Amino acid sequence: MRICNVVGARPNFIKIAPLVHEMEVRKIPQLLVHTGQHYDKQMSKVFFEDLNLPYPDIFLGVGSGSHAEQTARLMLSFEKVCLDQEINLVVVGGDVNSTLACALVAAKLGIPVAHVEAGLRSFDKSMPEEINRIITDHISDFLFTTEMSANNNLRNEGISDEAVHFVGNCMIDSLFSLLDLALTGAPWFDFGFEPGSYALLTLHRPANVDERQTLTKILEIINEVSETIPILFPVHPRTKARLSAWQIPLAPTLQVCNPLSYLSFLGLMAKARFVITDSGGIQEETTVLRIPCLTLRPNTERPVTITDGTNRLVEIDRNQLHANINSIFSAQWHTDRPLPPLWDGKASSRIVDILAKWLP
Ligand code: UD1
Repeated sequence: MRICNVVGARPNFIKIAPLVHEMEVRKIPQLLVHTGQHYDKQMSKVFFEDLNLPYPDIFLGVGSGSHAEQTARLMLSFEKVCLDQEINLVVVGGDVNSTLACALVAAKLGIPVAHVEAGLRSFDKSMPEEINRIITDHISDFLFTTEMSANNNLRNEGISDEAVHFVGNCMIDSLFSLLDLALTGAPWFDFGFEPGSYALLTLHRPANVDERQTLTKILEIINEVSETIPILFPVHPRTKARLSAWQIPLAPTLQVCNPLSYLSFLGLMAKARFVITDSGGIQEETTVLRIPCLTLRPNTERPVTITDGTNRLVEIDRNQLHANINSIFSAQWHTDRPLPPLWDGKASSRIVDILAKWLP
């Protein structure tokens, strides 16, 4: 019996690492496949180091391309892996193209699929991730959910309750296991900040960064905000390409840097005054760190971060952003709520308990 854990893009490394460690501890034979969807040192290798992930057994090196090209390359190379290796279960995480492609290959070869972070829905099919989530869930045999909204979504889509397991959040397992180490590094000093004296910004969603007008408008507003509090902006490669192509002006108080390692970013998040983002995972991490999070999106697939956490959806609108930041400065923000159910650092252990019972 061998379990194949698939990783491909930055958020996968964080979600799958605690499972790899848990399977190592229980001596469950496993194969780690890195698809190479993300390949830059800063987007991939540094995460393996920070998360203490073993070197992948197989690296597919699929790289970038259009959705069809990338997904097709992923499928062709992962099919070879499934045919060459003895694999009894494929574990995929999240909603990136690697998740969908590898789940589809396995399902068609009759190999059971486990989806970590199943059932999340933004109900917005213009997001490639939403399509990836829906299809992956409908071909998975084990659906591991992070919040109860996901269980409801899956039930509404006709997926049998028996396949769905509410286990908590593996991304938060990684956070709890590495937070102390991240704080020890005091990464804020590297950028000349004191704890609590700066905000963080991340942007990479196609809806925010792929159109010149939208990205320009966001950054005009952010430039203004950064005059109130300095902002650190680690720039995703997708966004970097647009920023340089369109020569969008950035205020000196908006400090730009390359994508950061897991530990640096976690430490910086933990001591930020607030975070502005369009990422999925950061909405969850800020909820656990109890740092106010302004999400520049019209929807979220992670509603528990709003009902139980520190997250708020914000339109790309100067007045709305300023009003929200004012309420953060005047301490009118929910930063004292109990954590969402089962976000306790033990999700990976629950998942491996379930898989271990299924293994012969
Ligand atoms: C992908 C995921 C998204 C996730 C994000 C986290 C999909 C559809 N999207 O988006 O859900 O939130 O990762 O980062 O799977 N690039 C580099 N170096 C790299 C990786 C990418 O330069 O190491 C460039 C690519 O050439 C491409 C762009 O960044 O031009 C986008 O990469 P891609 O993997 O297509 O999607 P992301 O925007 O990273």
